[in-house]
Amino acid sequence: MLGAPGSGKGTQARRLGEHFEVAHLSTGEMLRAEIAAGTPLGREVKDIVAAGDLVPDDIVERLVHDRVLEASRHGGYVLDGFPRTIHQAVAAYDIAKEADATVHAVVHLYVPEDELLTRLLGRGEARLDDDALTIRHRLEVYHERTEPLINYYEGRGVLATIDGRQQVDDVFTTILERLREYAPAD
Ligand code: AP5
Ligand code: MG
Repeated sequence: MLGAPGSGKGTQARRLGEHFEVAHLSTGEMLRAEIAAGTPLGREVKDIVAAGDLVPDDIVERLVHDRVLEASRHGGYVLDGFPRTIHQAVAAYDIAKEADATVHAVVHLYVPEDELLTRLLGRGEARLDDDALTIRHRLEVYHERTEPLINYYEGRGVLATIDGRQQVDDVFTTILERLREYAPAD
């Protein structure tokens, strides 16, 4: 799942995971769990996540590696919030290769900026990066570091851009329709 903060990656990835009976792997959730548990990794990344900056590539790549391998043994996975840089995208292909998995599609959720701000400010989950200033910074980081992945995946013929402004159910239906173009029927 590729998309700006608030575009609905988590909402849709969770549903896709349930629908296809595969693991939903969210690097944001993994990092927040490490922070909440006060692990050494959590303490290392806390300030970075709170500021809305990206955690270093090697840390998140290590974080997802074993989980992707494990999920591949049980039918597959939906990645949410990873990859977020070109370096991570290359790593994601390497990990998939190691797991003998096929990257079927990259779902890009497009939502205009004013709608993203409304959604994130209204989320009410007390996330440590959901105040107005940090949200603005996360959007800048997305434009600078993650948006280049749109062209990267388009060039590889795996990008499905979806109108993420629709109702949650309609976004999901549209994703399933588009995925039929990319994934085999089974
Ligand atoms: P991460 O947890 O990935 O957050 P994010 O990208 O900022 O995105 P969000 O989780 O805020 O939004 P979402 O797209 O999942 O939307 P959601 O479904 O929640 O990353 C957090 C931080 O962790 C990063 O800033 C970074 O520090 C670090 N990090 C994570 N991964 C990393 C990586 N790979 N590399 C480096 N650092 C990393 O929806 C948002 C709201 O809108 C919800 O309230 C929802 O109910 C609502 N909503 C959803 N869909 C709709 C709809 N169709 N209509 C109306 N409302 C909707
Ligand atoms: Mg999310």
